[in-house]
Order: sequence, then C-alpha cells, then structure tokens
Amino acid sequence: MKKYIVAANWKMNNDVRPSVDFAVSLSKNLLKLKQTEVILCPPFTSLFHISEILKVTSLKLGGQNMYFEKSGAFTGEISGSMLKSSGCQYVILGHSERRHIFNESDEMIQKKMTAALEIGLKPILCLGEKLEERQSGATHNVLERQFKSAFSVVSGDRLESCVIAYEPVWAIGTGVVATPEQASEAHQFIRELLKKQYGSEKAELMTILYGGSVKPSNAKTLIEAKDIDGFLVGGASLIEQDFIGISEIVERHLIAKET
Ligand code: PGA
Repeated sequence: MKKYIVAANWKMNNDVRPSVDFAVSLSKNLLKLKQTEVILCPPFTSLFHISEILKVTSLKLGGQNMYFEKSGAFTGEISGSMLKSSGCQYVILGHSERRHIFNESDEMIQKKMTAALEIGLKPILCLGEKLEERQSGATHNVLERQFKSAFSVVSGDRLESCVIAYEPVWAIGTGVVATPEQASEAHQFIRELLKKQYGSEKAELMTILYGGSVKPSNAKTLIEAKDIDGFLVGGASLIEQDFIGISEIVERHLIAKET
C-alpha cells in the first residue's frame, strides 16, 4: 500500500520550549489519524526533546538537512547518525532553500542521499523548478536532472525508504500555490521517471508529496488530483489549526477512497 504523508517543515522557526509545547499539542490533536503518516521536522535543537514526546504517538520525526560525512572537522554541520540518535527516521534533502540560498549542488545532494540511506534514514528528496524555468518550458528538464542525480545512487531495494516532494520554487512561501493540474502533471512526470528506472510496480508505491503554499483552503483539491500523495507544509505547519486541518483533509480523502 502506498503511504500518504503530511510533513511539517518548521524551517528556522521556534526555540526549544515553544517547539516542544507545539509538538505536545499537535500530537494530542492528531491522535485520531489512522491512515495518514505525519512527520514533524523541527529545527535541530528541538529534535531530541520532541523525540521523547513522539515516542508514545504515531507521529514521526525528521531532520531538515544533514551533511554527508560521518563525522569530523565540519564546523556547524550535523551528521545522519546525529539525526538518528536524536530520534529521526526521516531527513529532508535538497530543499530549494538549501539549493538556492546555500548553493547545494545536485552532486552534494546525491552524496547526502547515499549517506542518509546508509545510516538508515529515509530521505524526503525535494525537487522543483524556479519561475523562470517554468516560464521558459524547462520544468521537465529540471525535474529530470534533479531526479536522476539523486536517484542514481538509490537501488531498487532501497526505493521504498525514499519519499519525493515536488516543490515548485515559485510556490514556496509565496502564497501562490500550484494548481492541482500543474502539480498533478509534474507528479505524473516524476512517476514516469520512477517507472523508467525502477519499473511500474515499485514506482506506483512511491509517495510523491506536493509542497508550496499548501493551506487548508487548497489542500482538498490538491489531494484529489492524480498522483499527489500528501504534502510537505512550511508556513501553514506553524499554525496549529491549519496543520491539523491539512492533515485531516488527507485522512478524510483516504477514508473516502476506501469506501
Ligand atoms: P510553504 O513551504 O508551505 O511555506 O510554501 C513549503 C516548503 O518549503 O517545504
């Protein structure tokens, strides 16, 4: 069965105490979700504390980034093993803010994919085109380049440990959400890339999230679109009612699909 996921990317927001309080409240309010997997990705400094809270819940924990080396003289970096020992099962890799503000290259993200999988973390690999790339008709080229680079190091038997998040850069934090048609078209293209590399059966089981200005008001039409299997939520994941609302929309969609 394909897993549906709603992941919260808190980015560089919330100190330790407010993060922990927020996680406590969210975990209580999301208890009733049975089918949707919810992943919280707080800042590094809150991971361990939040992992203690999430232990007795079904919510999962993820890091927002990691370095590819195991240890050593890399001031300011965090290793995969540090994330795991802080209670993470997931790690976001290749987020557009990492690619574009911190100049992470496809090659670096590829190394991070290898390192994450080796240590037993599940990468949430982000892909997405910039506005000028969409306008010039380069969207598929960009997605294909990012996909091929990251997945060239992923063997078929490790694919099920990976999640993809399609996040058009022009939709992140802008309030300009992709239409369900635009998002679905990109997701179908990514699914085709997966099929070519891994075959239909494995490709159909992959979770492909959409991210970029997701809110309770647009989540329903997005989740109903073909090949959209959940969300990576930034801004709205910091607003409790919004994040709960989005998670419940996904859960209701899954229940409706079953009946
Ligand atoms: P946004 O961010 O929901 O604030 O657009 C999404 C993301 O960056 O993952």
